[in-house]
Amino acid sequence: MWDYTDQVMEHFQNPQNQGSITEQEQGTKVVTGEVGSIACGDALRLHLKIDEDTQTITDAKFQTFGCASAIASSSALTQLLKGKKVDDAMQLTNRQIADYLGGLPEEKMHCSVMGQEALEAAIYSYKGIPLETHEEDEGGLICSCFGVSDSRIKRIIRENDLVTAEEVTNYVKAGGGCGSCLADIDDIIAEIEQERANGVVVAPTSQVVTPETTPVNTVKPLTNLQKITKIQQVLEEQIKPVLAEDGGDVELFDVEGDIVKVILKGSCNGCASSTETLKFAIEATLKEAVLPTLVVQSVQI
Ligand code: FES
Repeated sequence: MWDYTDQVMEHFQNPQNQGSITEQEQGTKVVTGEVGSIACGDALRLHLKIDEDTQTITDAKFQTFGCASAIASSSALTQLLKGKKVDDAMQLTNRQIADYLGGLPEEKMHCSVMGQEALEAAIYSYKGIPLETHEEDEGGLICSCFGVSDSRIKRIIRENDLVTAEEVTNYVKAGGGCGSCLADIDDIIAEIEQERANGVVVAPTSQVVTPETTPVNTVKPLTNLQKITKIQQVLEEQIKPVLAEDGGDVELFDVEGDIVKVILKGSCNGCASSTETLKFAIEATLKEAVLPTLVVQSVQI
């Protein structure tokens, strides 16, 4: 179980500004920024309403698929954005999102990065600037498991003063799958350290996040019936609706101890990303919402 701060738990349990913005009054413009993928375990759609006269964000809402820290980061992001001028909003960093929550566990910093990238996508859309996709930008793809490019890794290293491949994994997930890109990530870190040593790049000074040290244990012992009921509820309410957006589906087959057996259906069945969907979308959500010791397996019938 992660050591979340009280602020993270509050924003997870009572998220602010969840939903979408459908009304666009005269003089305002509604834009959306979307990042992540369900296959990678987290996806965020950020909606902004901007007053075109004053260039001010008058409303911000989010739709997020992911863990507690992804929801809390999205909620924090929308709170930080309301009332901000567009140009000021563009300066918001992932570190400020994490700081607003009193810090995130290092392994969950990618949730704050996702928020900052969704904001960037939304503002680029507002300004009519094509957003470079991470798969297509000039540096080329480094981590094929999570679709993370060379330039995205460099940017996150520079913006957050990262020095190890493990930190890079925590911030953008690169290296957290098969691990075959870890050597390349080490090379990128070495290259940036050399740049720093030569004075070529001055990394931005970031506030140090002090992780909350008081463990927050929200898991109560569950009976087997409670566990199965809760798993079924989370599948129905949180996971199935999101998979359905891509034509996929999942059904609970059985629960043996902490092993949750599911049947992948629709486009999820036989999909090249089904392992990621299983591990990062279904298993991660059940771990967060039901029990951190759960392991999800796919069965064929
Ligand atoms: S290629 Fe990066 S973890 Fe597999």
